[in-house]
Formats: sequence, structure tokens, C-alpha cells
Amino acid sequence: MLPACEEGQRQGPNGGSPRRGRGSGSGQGSGTLNLGRDFVDRFFTWAGVQAAGGFWMPEQGSTGAAAVDHLFSFILWVSAFFFLLIVTLMIGFVVRYRRRPGRMEAGPGPAHNTPLEITWTVIPIAIVIGIFIWGFKVYLDVNTPPANSYEVLVTGQKWKWLFTYPNGHVDENLHVPVDTPIRLVMTSEDVIHGFYVPAFRLKRDVVPGRYVKVWFRAVNPGEYQIYCTQYCGTGHSDMWAKVIVHEPGGFERWLDEAGNFMKTMPPAQAGELLYRTRGCAQCHSVNGSGGTGPTWKGLFASHVPIEGGRVMVVDEDYLRTCILDPTKNVPVGFQPVMPTFKGRLKDDEITAIIEYIKTLK
Ligand code: CUA
Repeated sequence: MLPACEEGQRQGPNGGSPRRGRGSGSGQGSGTLNLGRDFVDRFFTWAGVQAAGGFWMPEQGSTGAAAVDHLFSFILWVSAFFFLLIVTLMIGFVVRYRRRPGRMEAGPGPAHNTPLEITWTVIPIAIVIGIFIWGFKVYLDVNTPPANSYEVLVTGQKWKWLFTYPNGHVDENLHVPVDTPIRLVMTSEDVIHGFYVPAFRLKRDVVPGRYVKVWFRAVNPGEYQIYCTQYCGTGHSDMWAKVIVHEPGGFERWLDEAGNFMKTMPPAQAGELLYRTRGCAQCHSVNGSGGTGPTWKGLFASHVPIEGGRVMVVDEDYLRTCILDPTKNVPVGFQPVMPTFKGRLKDDEITAIIEYIKTLK
């Protein structure tokens, strides 16, 4: 209960803005009826059960979000009701039966009351069984993707999310069509990450060495924030991405264009995209700072000492060999830990990366 509450509150500022925007709009030029409606509207928004988001929750961006919110609100308000009931009675009894002159000794209290005991046993059992059935149904729904789902592979790595589409395109953001069931097959390259889209009420740990599957159906075009929720190292708080929900037809256009970037972009620009999406950025900086591998800044045309006393000039052939056969010419001061990209990068992609390295002077 408590962690969920905290989460709701933490998201408050995010979800709060749409409500405020809408509230001020409907508040102007309204009669008594509108004021009443506005009040009810605000109450339910605040109670966390409206699509536009409210004080507690961000906007409901997926079909699953509404189901989760309704259950959450029900549990919250049932808990609040019983909390108030019990605390009020307790304080009332403490004041009424306190020790005072004329009532210094505790009298004989009732030892047993069968109807009362049955009542306070049966009612809570009925409520928690109801919550269990409701919760189990929602759990099954959010874990059972429809058979016609569109599948996207998700890779978590230090410290970014990568999304791979059926046509092989890799993107830094999750693009999806609106109103279509999307199945995510997620895994991690290194440590445990947490894939979290507050607006979709979707949160799952992404674990190395296994596949975690989730699904959702976005209800409105727009952009939604993705976070990482497992502390995964220095760049954890930068491990952001966006879900971009496209209008009908827009997704296919985007995928055609994005999947074709090798043909539509200048080589150096395409190389920069490959640098970010194919794992180069994990080990090679482009600003001169250190890393597992040499920085790419000023790398081209420089002289590098190789293990064994040789010195090599960094040219196109040297870089190409490093990408395809990385343990062959390891510069002094670095470990031979780079994996080969043979079969993972096409020739024109290797050329594009080399063109990009040349621009980093
Ligand atoms: Cu990945 Cu935190």
C-alpha cells in the first residue's frame, strides 16, 4: 500500500499540469451547473480515477492504466475509510473511558460478542477476497498480450534503452502506433534495469540473461517518458527515453524513413546515429574523456602505440580492422575486451562510422 501511495505522490507534479490546464479552461464563464460539474470533475481527477491525470497520477496513456488506477483508487479509499473509522473510534474511546475521579478502576468488560465478531470477520474477508479477484483479473489482463500484438525488442544497457523493430531498425526511442497492442520483449546487456512508463502504469525489471515480456495499447498520440527504476550505476538517472505514439498511418511512415537512414542521411551523420544505437557509446567517448576504449576525439590520423612496441597511424584501414578484428591491434593501455562487429555492422555502416570518427577533431 505505502510504496504505491508514495509513487502516486511522486508522480503528482507530472500529472498535475493537464488537470490544472483543463480546470482553468472550464472554470471561466460557467454557471452553477458548470461549477458543480467542475467540482465533481476535480474530485474524481484528484481521486485518481480520470483519464486526464490528477493530483495522484499522471495521465492514463494506455488501456491498462485505467484498470490499474480503478483498482488502486478502490484500495486507497477503502483503506482511508477504515483508517478514519478505526482512528476516530479509538480516539473517542480513549477520551470517553479515560481514567478520572470516580472511575479509577477498570470494570468488568464484555468478554465475548458472537454477532459482532462474525461481522468484523466476514466483512473484511469479503472485501479482501473481492480485491484479490479484481487484482488477479487485472494482473492477468496486463500480462496476456493479444495474439495480434506488434513486437518490439527492448535492450537495457548502461545507460540507455534501445528498441529494435521487426525490420532491423534500432532506435533510441520507442515509436508505436496508437490503439495497437504492442508486445515488448525485454532483456539487459549488463545489470538489472527497470523499464517504467508512468503514463502506461507499466513497470518491469529487465534482467540480463532472460526475456521479460509486457504489453500495452496506447490510447492517445503523444510523447510519454520512460525511466529506469533500478539503480544501475553512474548514468542511472540519465537512462531516459520516450514512447512516441503515432497517429494512424504515421508509424508506418516513420518506420520506413527511419529504417532507411543509411540511404537518406550523409555518412557522418548516419555514423553518429550508429555510434549511439549500436553500443559504441558505451566504451568510446567523443569528447576526449576516458572510457573502456580510446576516445574518438582526435583519434583519426593520430599515432597510437600498439602492444609489442609498434606505432600505427589511425586511418580508414586501421579503424576497419579494429571494428572487425578488435583484438588484433590493441593500443597500449587498453584491454582486449571489444567484441567483434563482424556480421553486426554492414560495410556501408562501418564506412559511416569511420566518416563520423573523422569529423571528431
Ligand atoms: Cu538502468 Cu537505472
